[in-house]
Amino acid sequence: MPKIAIILGSTRPGRNGEAVARWVFDIARQRTDAEYELVDVADYRLPLLDEAVPPSLGQYAQPHTRVWAEKIASFDGYVFVTPEYNHSTSGALKNAIDFLYAEWNNKAAGFVGYGSAGGTRAVEHLRLVMAELQVADVRAQVALSLFTDFENFSRFTPAEHQTEAVNTLLDQVVSWSNALATVRAV
Ligand SMILES: Cc1cc2nc3c(=O)[nH]c(=O)nc-3n(C[C@H](O)[C@H](O)[C@H](O)COP(=O)(O)O)c2cc1C
Repeated sequence: MPKIAIILGSTRPGRNGEAVARWVFDIARQRTDAEYELVDVADYRLPLLDEAVPPSLGQYAQPHTRVWAEKIASFDGYVFVTPEYNHSTSGALKNAIDFLYAEWNNKAAGFVGYGSAGGTRAVEHLRLVMAELQVADVRAQVALSLFTDFENFSRFTPAEHQTEAVNTLLDQVVSWSNALATVRAV
């Protein structure tokens, strides 16, 4: 049974991301194809990257890096829940991703974005980042609009079809997470 993390990538007080990530998790936990866990970047209290050695060398000196690395290493795949800030992902999520390297390698990932244009520009940036980390990002994507999936840009009221979009995303993430287990085993 693969383990999939739903990673909440916004840390802002009053963030919309929490309702979005909980909604994704509630859909996911009804499935029987994987073990799902909600991982809130805010809980890990990561400072701006403070490791002297590049993460690709895997020599983590800071206790907060080791805790974060152990958590991320425990999963076979990821669903990143990302806001769109200035046409990209949040600084907090990018920073949390940058802390690690091998823990992400040869895993699968999918994206749930939200913003005025469904968070699509944030997700496009994240797809470039995934390539460098050797993460296989699936095609299916959930794009939540601040205009039609929220009331007053703040109360999360996802349109009905978005549930199916989450399940399609999870189908692909689970499939590729299972497939990549053979690569990780080598
Ligand atoms: C610093 C900042 C920059 C933003 N830039 C964009 C943007 O470029 N495009 C967009 O669609 N929404 C943008 N927004 C609106 C956010 O997508 C929206 O506020 C969303 O709820 C943020 O996620 P959060 O509530 O989980 O922090 C921005 C919001 C913030 C705080």
